[in-house]
Amino acid sequence: MITVENKERKMSREKTKAVLNQSVADLSKASALVHQVHWYLRGPGFMKLHPKMDELMADLNNHLDALSERLITIGGSPVSTLKEFDELSKIEMDVATWDKTIEERFNEVVKAYKYLSELFEEGIEATDAEGDAVTNDMFTSAKGSIEKTVWMLESELGVAPGL
Ligand SMILES: [Fe+2]
Repeated sequence: MITVENKERKMSREKTKAVLNQSVADLSKASALVHQVHWYLRGPGFMKLHPKMDELMADLNNHLDALSERLITIGGSPVSTLKEFDELSKIEMDVATWDKTIEERFNEVVKAYKYLSELFEEGIEATDAEGDAVTNDMFTSAKGSIEKTVWMLESELGVAPGL
């Protein structure tokens, strides 16, 4: 039943919009990080891991587009410049050098993905609190997809998914 209180809570959805915009910035930067790994990989496994990074980027960009368009759908305005992505994102990225191992690069990607998983949990909580089942569903499925990738990356690294 839609009560007046529920309706008012849903009208603004400020927290939901904030987490969606945070996601836009972080998914953009995560995509740049994976692109860097795609380019700077060097070592055994390159032939299969290089194209795998293309798949990861495609997934990140799909989440990015879906969450950004959802934000617009509920009346928000997604950040869209590289400057905004970099300033808002909490994902860290170094200027690339050739001295990192594949393992070190994968650990950076895992760290970013675990952060995204926590961010999407915040999205699930915000959408619960603000009564937005549709966005909740999107954060839930994005979180599942990100966590599956954490499992795969950590399996490649020879460790259990530390989620
Ligand atoms: Fe490429």
